Amino acid sequence: MGSTSQDIYINKQVFGDDFVWGVSAAALQIEGAFDAHGKGQSIWDVFSAKKGKILNGDLPHTSCDFYNEYKQDIDIVKQLNIPCFRFSISWPRILPNGSGEINQAGIDFYNRVINYCIEQGVEPWLTIYHWDLPQNLEIKGGWTNREIVDWFTNFATVCAQNFGDRVKHWMVMNEPGVFTGAGYFLGIHAPGRTGLKNFLPAIHHAVLCMAAGGKVLRELVPGAEIGTTFSCSYIEPHTDKPKDVAAAKRVDALLNRLFIEPVLGLGYPTEVAALKGIEKYKLPGDEELMKFDFDFIGVQNYTREIVKNSFFTPYVGASLVKAEKRGVPLTDMKWEVYPPSIYQMLKQFNGYPQIKKIYITENGAAFPDNVTDGEVDDPQRVAYLQQYLAQVLKARNEGLKVSGYFIWTLTDNFEWAEGYHPRFGLIYVDFETQQRIIKGSGHWYADFLSGN
Ligand code: FCB
Repeated sequence: MGSTSQDIYINKQVFGDDFVWGVSAAALQIEGAFDAHGKGQSIWDVFSAKKGKILNGDLPHTSCDFYNEYKQDIDIVKQLNIPCFRFSISWPRILPNGSGEINQAGIDFYNRVINYCIEQGVEPWLTIYHWDLPQNLEIKGGWTNREIVDWFTNFATVCAQNFGDRVKHWMVMNEPGVFTGAGYFLGIHAPGRTGLKNFLPAIHHAVLCMAAGGKVLRELVPGAEIGTTFSCSYIEPHTDKPKDVAAAKRVDALLNRLFIEPVLGLGYPTEVAALKGIEKYKLPGDEELMKFDFDFIGVQNYTREIVKNSFFTPYVGASLVKAEKRGVPLTDMKWEVYPPSIYQMLKQFNGYPQIKKIYITENGAAFPDNVTDGEVDDPQRVAYLQQYLAQVLKARNEGLKVSGYFIWTLTDNFEWAEGYHPRFGLIYVDFETQQRIIKGSGHWYADFLSGN
């Protein structure tokens, strides 16, 4: 089914036969089974149990029970004609203490999932780390402890050795900017630490781990396509006053450049004064260890941010003008619906000649969904996806690198600090009964992907 959006006729064919289509998910958000069959605790199991950390006191303990329901969900991926399914490995499910003994039951679970995908003709795309650090490693300092480079190298090695014979598309990390920023600076995500003394070492060690993970995969999974993913938001100044423009540049460095540039060999964007302190965590030789020549970069975009100068905001001297105050269309996350953002970010990432290939590895929206007569009609989500896709197509037609698009996400799930409230899925989940209902957007994607 083609559709017209912003004067662009969109169907699958116009993206070309080699364009990759998929849907993304993450272990902690979908699996549940938080203590099943030898799994260790993750920082999210511990953080979510603390009072006031997660909206409504929601816990990820059961979620949509992908651990038990994976066949049903992969069947739906197939039914919706989605060629690729991106999901992540729970570190404490396969290494309960973070390092040391392997939990074979965890390995077996991912083997079942991977094998079932392949049997159904669905290509598994694996993310090694999507934020669920083993609690045992957090006790030892987590991302602030440089030893994490060894722990992570071992984790990546276990993944590569066990799944590399069948998985040919890998992402080392999901959005390091979010798990370090929200988890080690703002304290609003697990493990809930704050301040530059935690944030700066966490950044540097995450960068070293991205590169180390890439090297492990290249060595152990020959022929695999190896990438890593970054969050990004198009940044615009509130006014064209030089102070706002400068503030927007600082926020852009923090949100969009901080992790990609060191990986590309460009170093940290230390024009942001607060980031200068990162130098003290670097050891001689680190510049080399921070680099890796990824086969692709995963760009993940949802919205844009408007930035103004703010003398009183420490470290960055900038603040965001909230979308709620701007009278713009919002999703349930209170993120602005702003389709050109994805085009602008593709343009920005295309500005790095070192990047060989780009996939959009996440894009999607939460809207309030209701079940009426057994159906979930979600025209706002369909419109969002169509409009963002039109912008991806615009980029592609202009010759920018973009080789694929993955929707966030398959099923409604545990949305981190927001709990179960925001529903991002193409599939509605009743968390009491585990019943699934394919939403209108799921049917739309299926029609779109059928190419008719
Ligand atoms: C991204 C995360 C993903 C999900 C979406 C809504 O930042 O990678 O896990 O929470 O946002």
